[in-house]
Amino acid sequence: MELNRRTVMAGAAAAGLAATTLGTGSARAATGPAGRRPAKELFGTLADGTRVYRWSLENGGTRLKVLSYGGIVQTLEIPDRHGRHANVVAGFDNLADYVAKSPYFGALIGRYGNRIGKGRFTLDGKAYQLSVNDGVNSLHGGAKGFDKHVWHVEPFTKGSDVGLHLHYTSVDGEMGYPGTLRTKVTYTLTRHGDWRIDYEATTDRATVVNLTSHVYWNLAGEGSGTIEDHELSIAASRYTPTDPGLIPTGELARVAGTPFDFRHAKPVGRDIRAGHEQQVQAKGYDHNWVLDKGITARPEHVATLRDPRSGRTLRIATNEPGLQFYSGNFLDGTLAGTGGRTYRQGDALCLETQHFPDSPNHAHFPSTVLRPGQTYRTSTMHAFGA
Ligand code: BGC
Repeated sequence: MELNRRTVMAGAAAAGLAATTLGTGSARAATGPAGRRPAKELFGTLADGTRVYRWSLENGGTRLKVLSYGGIVQTLEIPDRHGRHANVVAGFDNLADYVAKSPYFGALIGRYGNRIGKGRFTLDGKAYQLSVNDGVNSLHGGAKGFDKHVWHVEPFTKGSDVGLHLHYTSVDGEMGYPGTLRTKVTYTLTRHGDWRIDYEATTDRATVVNLTSHVYWNLAGEGSGTIEDHELSIAASRYTPTDPGLIPTGELARVAGTPFDFRHAKPVGRDIRAGHEQQVQAKGYDHNWVLDKGITARPEHVATLRDPRSGRTLRIATNEPGLQFYSGNFLDGTLAGTGGRTYRQGDALCLETQHFPDSPNHAHFPSTVLRPGQTYRTSTMHAFGA
């Protein structure tokens, strides 16, 4: 029999355990009343006159600001061990920078997170050519991915949760992908201050889908310097090595004995200069880890990130089979963030829950095919603590 949460909680109560130590929730107690209804304000206007709004949400001590453009998480504030809040995600303070030069800061990524080799794949015997925007490859959905569209946003409060439903419909053929893809992403802030993302999509023709979120984390505070002293653990015994264009070779390589072994928490910087050919090629870490748990019905814990100075921690749970850990290798000191400071290499990192890159071209990778009548559903939980 599958244990549901209620059963687990009842058992825990009987055993005299604190409920907050269970499941994917953080150990931080809920603070204050259930969050208020999200509020919106004008953030900017696109060249075609479309207004972009910024939504503010708060619950359980976490504060979130989300743009209707790209579903971008512009700021996310959480307390440190002394209760001091800091914004822990990289971003810009204005719309023009997001439009002109964002390396996907905080954005929703679709239709396909990460790369598809040469932007080509074959499905049901038919060859498709996608928009190519990263050398010869297609990255994060092509030249105009979901990060560059305005989403329709609906706020909600449900019990003690507050959140946003974000909708975007991608037309048949957009960026070369077949099928009209109706996408709904739900951002929820729980009363414990945890941030949950639920992705849903349906199609009217067979297609491929791999949605993710491209938040850049720095738990010491955005713009505060390197993430190399953050401690990271990833529950994965294998990863997918890539070719020089960062396309998986198809191998599922063991992490044991390599700098890619994060099975026990270690500082991100400990082995980042080890000179492993995969690191040299990627200028650091920019790989998909094959999560040991595989695809699961519910989100399960897969990674923990901790900043020892502030004590802030992020625990990630997902039902996805992969995690792209990108150590901010291409940040080069030319972009100034929300706090006015520039971002240099390794000043923020991404942990993108996903299916594996280039899956449509690797039959042995978990399938990313979505067919009419099916509903794509994945969830990722971010639990914060200090
Ligand atoms: C990719 C990087 C890429 C970055 C874009 C990451 O998801 O793995 O290779 O440069 O997104 O900023």
